[in-house]
Amino acid sequence: MDLMEYQAKELFAKHGVPVTLGVVANTPEEARKGAEDLGGAVVVKAQVKAGGRGKAGGVKLAKTPQEAFDRASDILGMEIKGLTVNRVLIAPAASIEDEYYFSFLLDRANRQYLCIASVEGGVEIEEVAKTNPDAVKQIPIDPGTGVDEATARAIATEAAFPEPVFEQAVTMIQALWKVFVEEDATLVEVNPLAKLAGDKLEALDGKVSLDDNADFRHPDHEAFVDKSAENPLEAKAKALNLNYVKLEGQVGIIGNGAGLVMSTLDVVAYAGEAHGGVKPANFLDIGGGANAEVMANGLDVILGDPDVRSVFVNVFGGITACDEVANGIVGALDLLGDAATKPLVVRLDGNNVELGRQILEERNHPLVTLVGTMDGAADKAAELANA
Ligand SMILES: Nc1ncnc2c1ncn2[C@@H]1O[C@H](COP(=O)(O)OP(=O)(O)OP(=O)(O)O)[C@@H](O)[C@H]1O
Ligand SMILES: [Mg+2]
Repeated sequence: MDLMEYQAKELFAKHGVPVTLGVVANTPEEARKGAEDLGGAVVVKAQVKAGGRGKAGGVKLAKTPQEAFDRASDILGMEIKGLTVNRVLIAPAASIEDEYYFSFLLDRANRQYLCIASVEGGVEIEEVAKTNPDAVKQIPIDPGTGVDEATARAIATEAAFPEPVFEQAVTMIQALWKVFVEEDATLVEVNPLAKLAGDKLEALDGKVSLDDNADFRHPDHEAFVDKSAENPLEAKAKALNLNYVKLEGQVGIIGNGAGLVMSTLDVVAYAGEAHGGVKPANFLDIGGGANAEVMANGLDVILGDPDVRSVFVNVFGGITACDEVANGIVGALDLLGDAATKPLVVRLDGNNVELGRQILEERNHPLVTLVGTMDGAADKAAELANA
């Protein structure tokens, strides 16, 4: 999960990285109130999960509360890289003397962490990396050792933080490392890391990506989820512990095992070319060992998707036996009753396939079509979605 700037700054504050939190506003009125409370000049900053907000006109100075109202009116509702701005951060205007860049990230290719630091910071670090690559230091971090004071000192030296802020940089690097490790982040970025009047170092911006695989040990991260931006079907699936991703098409997909589901998406997309260009409507892996209830939950989510016109259930019975799956389908359809109106194409194979097919044949539900092969079933599902 990527965090917005104001959320990243909350984590920075928690671990002792110098930041000014400011006030989050959802309306121009709240922005004016925030500016009044802070007093003095402020910056109004678009809160979206995208870079280049400043360049897009999403970061503006406001000298008075009325100006904060006006700038917030401009920025709220604006689109930055396809994302609508629903929230702004009102932060005290800082008197910046210099801008630096700093980040920790996961370097998957080299199986280690990487620190990127530059005293040529500011808005365009990518540009600096192109035109003056020597100014952007890339320092590998050994995952076993991490960043202690000596490492932080070595990083600050290599990056050449100037003397007046050098010791602050050493302290801040360690605090940012704590954010990175203790919050299970895959990215912690500060751009600009600013030298303010009075030689004070402060994180004026923050970008943090959290590793969702570690969610289980961070119940507090749940608060960062933007419920309003979440797809309601994805939220429902998540609550049911289903591995579901909404896509753009019309054929609902359920399968067991991520590999099988991925190839089912391909097969359906291919079959769809002959049927008006219909496409898969979602990814849903009910996993190995899924029982009837899981199948029923999965069907419930998919049938609740207004874009879905047909459903393809593609199961290779392993730990999940086909009779369990068949019972799940029958159970779900009975549970849904008249609410189930979309045709289901079912392809079963593997463990207990005969019993599974028998259960479906005996139930003889008008919406269910059994097809023997994966290609045949994909074609049928695409045809029904295009009907
Ligand atoms: N509190 C502040 N006071 C004064 N100037 C600021 C403040 N915050 C940001 N700025 C200025 O605005 C510029 C852009 O701000 P910021 O880094 O937060 O957004 P951005 O870099 O454009 O967005 P992103 O990091 O998402 O690409 C900064 O480089 C800095 O010069
Ligand atoms: Mg920035």
